[in-house]
Amino acid sequence: MTKVLLTGGAGFIGSHTCLALLESGHQVVVIDDFSNGSAEALGRVAELAGLGPWRQTSAERWSGAEPGGSRLTLFRGDVRSSTDLDRAFEAADLGGGISAVLHFAGLKAVGESMAQPLRYWDVNVTGTVRLLEAMGRHGCQTLVFSSSATLYGTTDTVPIPETAPLQPINPYGYTKAAVERMLTDVAASAPGWRIALLRYFNPVGAHPSGRIGEDPNGRPNNLFPFLCQVASGRRQHLEVFGGDWPTGDGTGVRDYLHVMDLAEGHGRALDVLQAEPPQLLTLNLGSGQGHSVLELLRTFETTNGLTLPYTVVERRPGDSAVSVADPSQAERRMGWRTRRSLAEICRDGWAWQSANPQGYSTNKPQHTPELIGTQHGS
Ligand code: UFG
Repeated sequence: MTKVLLTGGAGFIGSHTCLALLESGHQVVVIDDFSNGSAEALGRVAELAGLGPWRQTSAERWSGAEPGGSRLTLFRGDVRSSTDLDRAFEAADLGGGISAVLHFAGLKAVGESMAQPLRYWDVNVTGTVRLLEAMGRHGCQTLVFSSSATLYGTTDTVPIPETAPLQPINPYGYTKAAVERMLTDVAASAPGWRIALLRYFNPVGAHPSGRIGEDPNGRPNNLFPFLCQVASGRRQHLEVFGGDWPTGDGTGVRDYLHVMDLAEGHGRALDVLQAEPPQLLTLNLGSGQGHSVLELLRTFETTNGLTLPYTVVERRPGDSAVSVADPSQAERRMGWRTRRSLAEICRDGWAWQSANPQGYSTNKPQHTPELIGTQHGS
């Protein structure tokens, strides 16, 4: 059993990856500040993984009743805090050290990054510096980093290979590029580093159980969660940003991948890093298929038997016509490709949204204790 640390593991992609890692036998420690995630999400992950109920055993601690050992521990903490990071690494040290980190923690809203650039540089870049320092203190040299196709900017290349030029166009993208650069320098500075830079395209959908899913703060910036909220009646109608793009039906084309495919991609990346000699691996994670806004909308409607109101409005500044991955390197290097269809994405996304129209909010715990949850067995 490998013990891994997930920063931002209580968020959308982190929680789904946490479940996939637990199901493949890993022991997981999570540090999350709950700025865009919740302890409730991990409670449901514990339930789905069969770890027993997620119980609060003291003012500061929740635990489950998994027979046979501690499998999931959650700390409330900030990746910019060395103290918080040390606490997570040291708790894990009780039963053997952390062998790898999956670094999801970060801010990800393009518009917000333009209004608050320093916050993005602080959380995304300083947070990663602090994390790497902590990894150094605790003798861990294996890291999977959540990068983004946003690095490719508004390229016309279709599909986009990893070798395409990096030309971010907003502070969020610059911070991802800076971290990729920093990790490349770190990997070159000393032997032993095993680092994967995973460039996500458009992760959407939810676990098929409908128990965990995406729970954006406030008005969703992204198409899929917005569509789900229109379907549940929480939003009146969808605005389609531009009907005059040079695409088949005039609406923007993206590479949507099911979040469980993405979660499994992280498991594969970890396996490859741990099995092979030290390396820096840079991979696109996408389906290789492009779908327009209207295609996604129609698939959502057909799959779920719904009709969703929409209007076509002006293009959104900074958008591009088409963004589709060339995912062939991920298949070649780690035998990974997406397995789930657009219809499954729509079915599972709706299963989550319809069962949890307000997300996790009705069950969100108070965020005061430092140690929010931990699962200990014998
Ligand atoms: N769109 C709408 N209406 C909406 C929201 C989006 O029509 O309310 C359209 C966009 O114009 C675009 C498509 O739906 O054509 C997808 O937009 P998203 O905002 O869902 O996703 P983006 O491709 O713009 O960006 C996402 C993430 C970025 C990441 C990028 C990687 O938000 O952080 O994918 O390709 F970098």
